[in-house]
Amino acid sequence: MSLVKWLDFNVIGDQRGELISLESCKTIPFDIKRVYYLINTKMDQARGFHAHRKLRQVAVCISGSCIMTLDDGFKREEVVLNSFSKGLLIEGIIWREMYNFSRDCVLMVIASEHYDEQDYIRNYEAFLREVRK
Ligand code: TYD
Repeated sequence: MSLVKWLDFNVIGDQRGELISLESCKTIPFDIKRVYYLINTKMDQARGFHAHRKLRQVAVCISGSCIMTLDDGFKREEVVLNSFSKGLLIEGIIWREMYNFSRDCVLMVIASEHYDEQDYIRNYEAFLREVRK
């Protein structure tokens, strides 16, 4: 089964432009506790390199593009994020890496929990031990 799970958002458009509305437990399949966004990223500076134990997230590239690698410890998949109307749902213990940020990239992440460093696995070997046990 693919690690890539897309959520397609409804785009409400008229002659004035377009609008996308994301609602907790509706469009986003969990209770939203946090939203953060990556800005002023660099093309040659990769980020991420961690997994989460409990956190569920939806990543939306609301401007520009970037690439995300998803890894469940058994397979790796790469996905291009370049649409403001598509959210990448990341749940379960998945190692993620982000790179190739375009100059205008704004990557918004919607999260099911408040920030908690204890939920992070930042060591790849520890991640593999956890998912393969
Ligand atoms: P980090 O997890 O390393 O970012 P990325 O996964 O995108 O490479 O986070 C960078 C810093 O920001 C780190 O010191 C933790 C802090 N941070 C918060 O304070 N709150 C948050 O919600 C997030 C995601 C990170």
